[in-house]
Amino acid sequence: MSTDYSESHGGEFEKVVEYIANLKYPEKREEALQELSKKRETFPKLAIYLWHSVGTLAILLQEIVAIYPMLSPQNLSQNVSCKVCNVLGLLQCLALHPETRGLFLNAHIPLFLYPFLNTSSKLKPFENLRVTSLGVIGALVKGDDNDAITFLMQTEIIPLCLRIMKRGQELSRTVATFIVQKILMDDSGLSYICQTAERFFAVCTVLNHMVTDVVTNSKDDQRLLRHVIRCYLRLAENQKGKEALKKNLPDALREVDQKLITDDAVRKSHTQLLQNLGLSSDQ
Ligand code: TRP
Repeated sequence: MSTDYSESHGGEFEKVVEYIANLKYPEKREEALQELSKKRETFPKLAIYLWHSVGTLAILLQEIVAIYPMLSPQNLSQNVSCKVCNVLGLLQCLALHPETRGLFLNAHIPLFLYPFLNTSSKLKPFENLRVTSLGVIGALVKGDDNDAITFLMQTEIIPLCLRIMKRGQELSRTVATFIVQKILMDDSGLSYICQTAERFFAVCTVLNHMVTDVVTNSKDDQRLLRHVIRCYLRLAENQKGKEALKKNLPDALREVDQKLITDDAVRKSHTQLLQNLGLSSDQ
């Protein structure tokens, strides 16, 4: 690893190196994790140092695996959850950086997060863990990286996301929907989901369920609706998907509803959706 001091401001480089070294000592680890998490935004090469330093990944994974026994039976304190969320924040940094993303995928690291996504407790330590884990997957799909989508499709991420979309709280539900949207935006992702009726309806049913939830509980969640409508728009680009959607679009979305959709951009997507499905009143 080259030592590029030119980038360091106020000894930031030295600090990062020191904190990475401190990860090795259990008594210094918690502080080091916290401090490294804070460096994510100010130190762009953090991902590279984390990945290429000796033993760092092993330590991070060990911290993750160590709490699996606390997931069932549920026995996870807020404190422990926070510590692991810091670890997840560092993994997110690896997932986001173009130079480490491929390495991260090839090492199948996302799979270590699936046990966290598979929990169902509504308690805060569990919800935080789910949201932060989804954030790592979200970082992988954010860059429209075909390799990342292809990798995720081969795993059980879609059913995990669907379950969170169905039962999750606002934030985890929105990030899970974003991930499904990103998979749908990918051509192979769209054909994968539309390949069988089971897959298509699994996705469509959960999207419909969320719309019904927003309507019946008068939630004003434009961000969620935006992702949901983008998912429908994309499903409508597939021939079979379009036919099935025509019959299955929830009633609340079959016409323009000023109260449900207040955001201009969302309304535009919705109008487009109705047009694409041949459901708009002026057709
Ligand atoms: N292995 C399952 C399948 O191939 C994965 C899956 C479950 C799935 N539910 C889904 C994939 C919904 C896409 C959509 O069908």
